Amino acid sequence: MIIAIDGPAASGKGTLARRVADAMDYAYLDTGLLYRATGAKVLASNADPEDETAAVGAAKNLSADDLQGEELRSEEVGTAASKVAAIPRVREVLLDFQRSLATTPPGGKHGAVLDGRDIGTVVCPEAPIKFYLTASVEERANRRFKQLQEKNPAAIYERVLKELEERDARDSARDVAPLTMAKDAIHIDTDRLNANAVFDAVMAHIRTHMGEDD
Ligand code: DC
Repeated sequence: MIIAIDGPAASGKGTLARRVADAMDYAYLDTGLLYRATGAKVLASNADPEDETAAVGAAKNLSADDLQGEELRSEEVGTAASKVAAIPRVREVLLDFQRSLATTPPGGKHGAVLDGRDIGTVVCPEAPIKFYLTASVEERANRRFKQLQEKNPAAIYERVLKELEERDARDSARDVAPLTMAKDAIHIDTDRLNANAVFDAVMAHIRTHMGEDD
């Protein structure tokens, strides 16, 4: 069983996907982390995230250690991730790992939950259950801003909003695997839903689907 959860930056898909994976006892892969780790590796070598040779080299050399660390969550790394993610060869390099985790989940698990931008459209188009989460950019900026403020009281809302708008534009406008909803995905607009309500709605869909399969 593969469950695909796609959506724009800060749509809450990561928290949701982790909870769904726990509830189902499935493996979980945050595919954004692969692009973030690639972007961070490029930045660490003082190269430009839009430099194809540097970005492809970083993607090819990712190790498990590269996927650890709080700094991967920074807005700077998020922007670099979005830039390396627009390079077709980088996506190609990272595709096999994502697909093999989805089809052969580690630890003998019976399924996997993957979240990202192109899981339902490119990585696992055959996934039987797909969700597409959205929320207005203002609402997403609000949520991200509140998280940031807990760590850094000097965080600025307008800056968070601008960064998200730029990232949305880049992730949606790129030629290869742009952010878009798969035709067979269930769309959930989270503007007026809290995380628990989204989780309950998603689990209800999953249970219905599994019941139909019996
Ligand atoms: O989900 P995230 O914010 O951690 O993702 C960081 C960037 O990685 C995002 O701006 C675009 C890219 N990404 C992608 O292109 N495809 C994915 N499946 C996941 C992330």
